[in-house]
Amino acid sequence: MILVTGATGSIGRPLVAELHRRGAAFRSLVRDPARAKLPGAVAAGDFDDPASLDRALDGVTRVFLCSPGAVPAPGPQPMIAQQGAVIEAAVRAGVRRIVKVSVQGARAGGLLAEGAHAVLEERLRVAGPEWVLLRPSGFMQNFRTGTGAFSADGDLVGAYGDGRIAYIDAADIAACAVPPLLESGYAGETFVLTGPEALSHTEIAAQLTAATGRAVRYRDLPAAEFAETLVAQGLPAPFAADVAALFAEVAKGGLATVTDTVERLTGRPATTFRAFLARERALG
Ligand SMILES: NC(=O)c1ccc[n+]([C@@H]2O[C@H](COP(=O)([O-])OP(=O)(O)OC[C@H]3O[C@@H](n4cnc5c(N)ncnc54)[C@H](OP(=O)(O)O)[C@@H]3O)[C@@H](O)[C@H]2O)c1
Repeated sequence: MILVTGATGSIGRPLVAELHRRGAAFRSLVRDPARAKLPGAVAAGDFDDPASLDRALDGVTRVFLCSPGAVPAPGPQPMIAQQGAVIEAAVRAGVRRIVKVSVQGARAGGLLAEGAHAVLEERLRVAGPEWVLLRPSGFMQNFRTGTGAFSADGDLVGAYGDGRIAYIDAADIAACAVPPLLESGYAGETFVLTGPEALSHTEIAAQLTAATGRAVRYRDLPAAEFAETLVAQGLPAPFAADVAALFAEVAKGGLATVTDTVERLTGRPATTFRAFLARERALG
């Protein structure tokens, strides 16, 4: 029996659909079963309620571990306590394998999600159950809602310079989680998952323009000025500074790596941004 956490999220929904299609034995951890609208069994539970995790993990042998990304909260990122609680409950329940979504560039002392995932990766390595780490690049889904990617006038704004990112379709991450969840092998492996091409944000804006028929430009700002725009949008200054610093790392080529891991794990090429936009009906 597999427990899927983050089941209503960008990765979780296509993962649950695929596990259901394959007839796998799984249940989804959801906060609100009535609103989840997922195929297959669901267990009501909350990362912040350990007793609910114990109930959801009853009889579970493998866990897909995924929770929300970095948030502008004071103190340590909430994902550390939340995923930490799932790892502890999984150990109590005798779970044999945990497949965790991390992030490309996870490293001790890294900014925002990069540092938080590094803490969790280390906890997982010593927890006891077998572990498999998926380290995806930025998600193409970030461009669907516009959250954090578009300015009020619809342009893309950032501090990426000409730095490229090999954005990945979250559905490809889900597809990569399936083999380590259903098969043996993969224990102790770390997979860096990217899209098939590294694009600059000027190129992304051009593809958005072609797909939507609406002129989208990319406006590049110096990192400090970009941080000021985030503060003006209401984000706390330390969080804005960290986001701007992350973007500045991208400008230096920090996320430009392209891997063939999606194809190796799934047997089909990773989704291009163009194909993603077509599938999403040009973000309509
Ligand atoms: N976005 C990126 O570019 C990017 C890049 C690399 C790595 N990542 C990593 O990917 C992960 C996020 O994946 P995603 O985009 O698929 O997630 P997502 O779409 O943000 O979904 C988050 C999921 O967590 C659930 N959840 C939230 N709070 C919960 C709680 N207290 N108890 C139980 N469940 C809770 C949500 O369920 P509800 O329906 O109840 O809200 C939802 O299913 C993060 O770890 C992030 O660091 C993201």
